Amino acid sequence: MKQQKLLQSGKVKSVYRTDTPGQLIIEFRDDITAFDGGKKDVLADKGRFNAEVSAFFFEYLEKYGVKTHFVKMLDEKRMVVRDLQMIPLEVIVRNFAAGSLVRNYPFKEGTKLNPPIVVIDYKDDSRHDPMLNDEIIGALGLATPAELKKIKKIALEVNSHLVRFLAELDITLVDFKLEFGRGGKTIYVGDEISMDSMRLWDKTTGESLDKDVYRFDKGDVIATYNRVSRRICT
Ligand code: C5P
Repeated sequence: MKQQKLLQSGKVKSVYRTDTPGQLIIEFRDDITAFDGGKKDVLADKGRFNAEVSAFFFEYLEKYGVKTHFVKMLDEKRMVVRDLQMIPLEVIVRNFAAGSLVRNYPFKEGTKLNPPIVVIDYKDDSRHDPMLNDEIIGALGLATPAELKKIKKIALEVNSHLVRFLAELDITLVDFKLEFGRGGKTIYVGDEISMDSMRLWDKTTGESLDKDVYRFDKGDVIATYNRVSRRICT
């Protein structure tokens, strides 16, 4: 497979056209950003840890019948994916109160949310990813009611699989974000599932094992990403 023209360069990933119809290459770069890009750095190896964990979870979920965009890894940082029509939604599943939920609402950090909460934000940095509701999604024509129902169902299914898998590693899945895309009439999980898009707490020590280490200067980001990816992928 040949990598061709750069189609899109996001904050931490680049997307390239390929010589294979219907397939793209996503490169996981070593950039890391937080707070709408207000904080940014380049951390060697960060891209390959996120690529490895994302590939692992996509393959894991496919085993349970969840459709993802993952095709294969080309090398440590480059993933071949199905070319989807991406839906500009950030679908967040929350099992425990943390992050923006605690900042914006009177939840105490660490409160278990039973059942889990699905929150959907509009993927638009210039507007700071505002929270949507079903009516706004419909009025903006972002997804049909049937698609939205399917997206929420898949998000909760992914949550069950990830919660169970991570619990066996003594890791609490606090929350995570998914993005979805259309391939024909099918909805696929796209983007990434990594330490950048999940909030993970060590069950024993309570320590953060994700991008919160970077956001809030909690320690050595790369050492954490390395340890977590080893724990997940081996
Ligand atoms: O910041 P907030 O608490 O809303 O984030 C919830 C979850 O979604 C976290 O795991 C965070 O890493 C993820 N997220 C993301 N990309 C965003 C916003 C949130 O991956 N743009």
